[in-house]
Amino acid sequence: MEPKHPIVVTSALPYANGPIHLGHLVEYIQTDIYVRALRLMGEDAIYCCADDTHGTPIEVNAARQGITPEALIAKYYDEHRRDFADFEIRFDNFYTTNSPENHAFSDLIFSAARDNGDIYTKDVELTYCEKCRRFLPDRYVKGRCPRCGAADQYGDNCERCNATYAPTELADPFCVVCGTPPGRKTSSHYFFRLGNYAERLRAWLTGPAKIQDEIRNYILTWIDEGLRDWDISRDAPYFGFPILGETDRYYYVWLDAPIGYIASTRNYCTRTGGDWEAYWRRPEGRIRHFIGKDIIYFHFLFWPAMLMGAGFNLPESILVHGFLTVNGEKMSKSRGTFITAREYLDKLNPAYLRFYYAANLSAKMADVDLDLEDFKRRVNAELIGNFANFANRSLTFLARNFDGVTGDFSEPELEARILEKAQRVIECYRNVELRAAVREIMEIGDIGNRYFQEQAPWALLKTDRARAHAVTSFTVNLVRILGTLFKPVVPRLANDLERQLGLPHQTFEQLAFDLKGHRIGEPAILVQKVDQVDIVQKDPMAAIDLRVARVLQCASHPKADKLVVLQIDLGTEQRQICAGIRGFYTDAELTGKNLVVVANLKPAQLRGQESNGMLLAASSTDALGVLTVDAAPGTPVRVADIEFDGTPRIEITDFQKVTLASQNGRPFYNGKPLQAAGADVVVDRGVDGGIK
Ligand code: MSP
Ligand code: ZN
Repeated sequence: MEPKHPIVVTSALPYANGPIHLGHLVEYIQTDIYVRALRLMGEDAIYCCADDTHGTPIEVNAARQGITPEALIAKYYDEHRRDFADFEIRFDNFYTTNSPENHAFSDLIFSAARDNGDIYTKDVELTYCEKCRRFLPDRYVKGRCPRCGAADQYGDNCERCNATYAPTELADPFCVVCGTPPGRKTSSHYFFRLGNYAERLRAWLTGPAKIQDEIRNYILTWIDEGLRDWDISRDAPYFGFPILGETDRYYYVWLDAPIGYIASTRNYCTRTGGDWEAYWRRPEGRIRHFIGKDIIYFHFLFWPAMLMGAGFNLPESILVHGFLTVNGEKMSKSRGTFITAREYLDKLNPAYLRFYYAANLSAKMADVDLDLEDFKRRVNAELIGNFANFANRSLTFLARNFDGVTGDFSEPELEARILEKAQRVIECYRNVELRAAVREIMEIGDIGNRYFQEQAPWALLKTDRARAHAVTSFTVNLVRILGTLFKPVVPRLANDLERQLGLPHQTFEQLAFDLKGHRIGEPAILVQKVDQVDIVQKDPMAAIDLRVARVLQCASHPKADKLVVLQIDLGTEQRQICAGIRGFYTDAELTGKNLVVVANLKPAQLRGQESNGMLLAASSTDALGVLTVDAAPGTPVRVADIEFDGTPRIEITDFQKVTLASQNGRPFYNGKPLQAAGADVVVDRGVDGGIK
């Protein structure tokens, strides 16, 4: 036997800045299946991960919500752990990058690089917001694309024409946080000379490490084109670790994030009495990463270079998967296909998704489509029909007719075919060819189903009872093999089946037709069929057309003393709306203000006056403040990434499905602020309360 290597397997560390969604789960399910399979093969493998907790977005979001970054990441830590556990993703360690171990390793790797002469400092000129008193990374500046003029584009590239540029090239730039036009400021930054590692990286890429060909070639091209130095520092305010010897300069999140793989391993070893160096330092250690295609650059260049600099082991493999699409399209909040792990779990069994992803994943970088019709069909036909129902029929038949005890049988030809297929399944798992593994498993199921049908033991009961017993005993043995092979994909189901078979924990060592004279446990239905896949749920906010409106004129309503009749400018048109704000504002106070209105609300007559839209205001017990924003009339007012879906008309009940509330004088929807072209909407007079 080959000596066992200590293997640490990782998935990319999810940002502690939002919920786990079905896209993330492609990776965590793929990795989890792989690690479970390795264990069943008898390999010495652990699965380590962590939340990625540092960086600007976490710091900004915490500030927006009026909480500390620590409180924000703690909330997501608990949520993520629960989501993963419920999806049967079994980490040996799920840690956090905001840990003492990670801090120590970051300093260690940084100082090793510095001692190697890989680090230097240089002044850089960056976009800076005077009002927020912060430097603005690419995603925090928006403006018009310098090439095609598209509005509302990020500081690094244009989503309309794909141009890439520096934030300083944007036309009419504004700060995403506060909406003001940014200036520039110089700061001294730390750089890592990635070029020092070009030849060692090339050697690693072309050596024995397992790297998908398409990716190897593309990274070698980057090396050929010359590697640019990497800016590894960020200025305060930042949530992260201060750079060794500095106070207001921090390691860029992408420096300490992958180091989190080591820190998580170390934390695991501390807990379990192991030795982290066995994985990361000693020659027998094996490191295998799973990542998505959006983070290739970091994992194939910066990360191995950092490891090389510090004398750590290099990854033995990095498997890159593609992105999830739902019904053939990118996940989208407006289409309702941005489905969180929790939303799925509230409706469906996690085994379905684990099965479906496995059935669609190969070791290639191709995208994975969750086609909901196909999902239902395949889960019902394969997971349930071919596997679970067959298992149930076999076990029930044995229990009812033969007292649940298997007898002798001999099907040498079928047994050999199935055991050969079982070995192929194991090979597929080893190569992370999950789709092929599932296909082989299903073929074994087909053999079993066909055999059961053809032999018809229910008919044999009357003519040849011994033969009926042999047939059933064979299928029960086949079910056991199926279940064991399926353990990595649907662990809970397979464990339930093991219990029903009256067997202890099975491994791939026990793939044999040797349950003879064995008493099974109590058969039961393993899993229900999918009848409705109603997980696509549009965010009700997507249907609401919120826009900036300038008040042109105000007058009292002739018949209702609480109502004000406003003439507003919506950029492309003028309209009349009525609002119940009399007593809180004078006409003069309202005129000229830029307010927020629901522009697609069905028009109504309010005591004889037309109201074509609705104005938003926050109210507390004794105060009321309208929502205002510094943006041109007609500008869409949106929440984060929930685009308006174009619904022409909504009823008031549609609007009532969203709950808006103001906190510290700012309006929020589900914890996210309302903005118009990057400018924050504010509540006049700082009134806090519900918004209507
Ligand atoms: N925090 C970084 C990774 C640091 S690793 C040292 C990050 N986090 S993430 O939350 O955005 O993504 C975590 C993993 O999930 C990444 O590998 C990413 O590619 C993957 N996915 C995120 N969205 C995905 C889809 N829609 N589809 C498939 N995988 C996706 O990146
Ligand atoms: Zn700002």
